[in-house]
Amino acid sequence: MTQDELKKAVGQAAVKFVKPDSIVGVGTGSTVNHFIDALAEIKDQIRGAVSSSEQSTEKLKSYGIEVFSLNDVDQLDVYIDGADEITEHMHMIKGGGAALTREKIVAAVAKEFICIADDSKQVGVLGQFPLPVEVIPMARSYVARELVKLGGDPVYRQGVVTDNGNVILDVHNMSIIDPKATEIAINAIVGVVTNGLFACRGADKLLLGTSNGVKEL
Ligand code: A5P
Repeated sequence: MTQDELKKAVGQAAVKFVKPDSIVGVGTGSTVNHFIDALAEIKDQIRGAVSSSEQSTEKLKSYGIEVFSLNDVDQLDVYIDGADEITEHMHMIKGGGAALTREKIVAAVAKEFICIADDSKQVGVLGQFPLPVEVIPMARSYVARELVKLGGDPVYRQGVVTDNGNVILDVHNMSIIDPKATEIAINAIVGVVTNGLFACRGADKLLLGTSNGVKEL
């Protein structure tokens, strides 16, 4: 199976976790795009969605799925999203699509975070994938210098502006032995909006696409 077929399989498998009459939290990315395609088939059974990006919002609306503002929703039962890397401890790196901050906010509101990923995303230690950090534009150089002090090698993602009007630094060569501590340390740098480590609030369930079928972990 191709990587895209594995992404499609987990996207479809995630639909069974969406409760009738609920508002579902929807992430961002190519795996989530398959989930949205599958969600469209049961759209009459749900109230709508809260989205983590303009990209997902546009796709949801194209199917006629109502997109609610998070400020109008008290709680979400489930949030479904992909990952760039995930460990057996359900710690993740996210933000390859630059949507990390809204993803983290929507995930924080959800009772359950269900990660959908193909098996290439499963790793022993996080950090092979450069860690995205969303930064207020005027703080970019300062934050980059602070990230170097933490042992990383930040690279400005040229030409990318997030949905929140900020920029992204991708941190290479960071050894992320303690993901929670690293998440907290980077978020403490003034000018950082958030970073793509999802460890303090990791996933609750992983649907992993493998050539032997979708595994639930
Ligand atoms: C978006 O900013 C990311 O967090 C995505 O969830 C992550 O990059 C996974 O993307 P794919 O599903 O496209 O691999």
